[in-house]
Amino acid sequence: MRPVVRHQYDAVIVGAGGAGLMAALEASKGCRVAVVSKLYPTRSHTGTAQGGIGAALGNREPDNWEWHMFDTVKGGDYLVDQDAAEFMCKEAIRVVYELEHMGLPFNRTPEGKIDQRKFGGHTKEFGKGPVQRSCFAADRTGHMILQTLYQQCIKRQVTFFDEYRLVDVLMREGRCCGVVALCLATGELHVIHAKAVLMATGGFGRMYKVTSNAHTLTGDGCAILWRRGLPLEDMEFFQFHPTGIYKLGILITEGARGEGGVLRNRTGERFMERYAPTLLDLAPRDMVSRAVHQEIRAGRGIDGKDYVHLDLTHLDRRVIEEKLPDITDFVRTYLGLDPVRELIPIQPTAHYAMGGIPTNLNAEVLADEQGRVVPGLYAAGECACVSVHGANRLGTNSLVDIVVFGNRGGQRIAEWAPKAEWAALPDDPEGSAQEQLARLEANRGGDEAARLRAEMQQVMMDDVGVFRIHAGLQEACERVNRLRAAYQGVGLSDKGRRFNTEVEELLELGGLLDLAWVTATAALARQESRGGHSREDFPNRDDAKWLKHSMASLRGDAVQLAYKPVTITRFQPQERKY
Ligand code: FUM
Repeated sequence: MRPVVRHQYDAVIVGAGGAGLMAALEASKGCRVAVVSKLYPTRSHTGTAQGGIGAALGNREPDNWEWHMFDTVKGGDYLVDQDAAEFMCKEAIRVVYELEHMGLPFNRTPEGKIDQRKFGGHTKEFGKGPVQRSCFAADRTGHMILQTLYQQCIKRQVTFFDEYRLVDVLMREGRCCGVVALCLATGELHVIHAKAVLMATGGFGRMYKVTSNAHTLTGDGCAILWRRGLPLEDMEFFQFHPTGIYKLGILITEGARGEGGVLRNRTGERFMERYAPTLLDLAPRDMVSRAVHQEIRAGRGIDGKDYVHLDLTHLDRRVIEEKLPDITDFVRTYLGLDPVRELIPIQPTAHYAMGGIPTNLNAEVLADEQGRVVPGLYAAGECACVSVHGANRLGTNSLVDIVVFGNRGGQRIAEWAPKAEWAALPDDPEGSAQEQLARLEANRGGDEAARLRAEMQQVMMDDVGVFRIHAGLQEACERVNRLRAAYQGVGLSDKGRRFNTEVEELLELGGLLDLAWVTATAALARQESRGGHSREDFPNRDDAKWLKHSMASLRGDAVQLAYKPVTITRFQPQERKY
């Protein structure tokens, strides 16, 4: 058994990306807050978000939040909950100015306003043409958000548990009352008793072989709550970003196309003219990723291989080097190519989970499709599904989501926690965490975990990727389930307690396998194509049967699917043309 250390805070935030830090900052205005993060906070994955944060500031040309809302709803293929999208698009403006006032170094227009650029699916006048809406700090916008928020949290004396990994979430009589985390440095377990817990643990792109996601994006929060019996919403919708560096998956920001970059096939054709005649290369990501795949399938990939080119060579060198410095560096470093003169090989890369822990507009976690709230439990950011992205998220809206709903969740905690009674911890709060870790120590170590991970990533890539079909999805469910069974036998080679990263990797693999299974199962069930879920055997959107959110729960050892309606307020579903 591992030694246990105990703490008590009004609120504990799990995850120190943009959502977690924003929530911690707001919550700290009303109560004592701790942040548990498996990384040093400024290394969180928000730091890799490149091209900008969407807000209808209208600094470059007329814009308003209603156009932003329309684009978000249409981009999400009408699966977006429109009350949530309205709230987000209005709040985006306030929160971007708040970040500016905290000191975030945005690029500036010649008059000194926050600069804005074009991004996929963002339009003026309800789809008439692209609009400059993405507020950016070169191609390091997420990095700047993290630095800015972390400094503010330190100023407000938020306590940080850095390099502590979530192992369990504590519930008693349906209320959340704390977490159990593993300290990487010592191997001790820490039980943190709290009135409110906010999950901001990010996405789970590491279930795929080619992904823009950091190694740490393993869905820890989603997996743990799911095992505790809570549902996950819209898990079948996983976004592929069209421009990942070939084979590596590293992101080349959509901002590159926002600045004028274009996609070309083996004949040099700007093929998006055939797929999206109005928005061209700035169509929403699901459409561009499908177009790239279709070009490759038709033999128009470069040299017949599975990639196409992103062409920036017609842009001014200063635009590339000053507005896109990081991706320029990546291309030079990883590919040995100079994007000023040479074409960049790209392929779609697994990028973003639209689904996750269901929440309402206050970032409160929902226990079921009727909308019953789990007292004391909140979620925000990519791990959450407040359903502002529907079936396909627009570029820049992830940063909007994390700051808007992180802010909202933090505000609610600041209001609620000081007044709330303490809930007792469950008996033996660390028991389940001890058991999990003891099993990993008791099992024999070896390279089995690496084999299971590689197979999961390949299966997900092949069968639950940009295009899907019944037989492939069925096969994916079965294979991932077999991998889950095999996982029960994996163990540690390194039995040491201090800085044992193997323990973390094994815990992460268990979570990813569960989430891969839920994703494949929900995708098999949805017999239509919508946004990021494209079924070759059901190529059309089917609003009559499928304009509804899925809710997947663990019942026994099966995924049980339920459904709930989409909230539609202003925009009735239409055909999605760009
Ligand atoms: O392309 C990008 O810069 C990514 C942005 C996003 O995912 O929102």
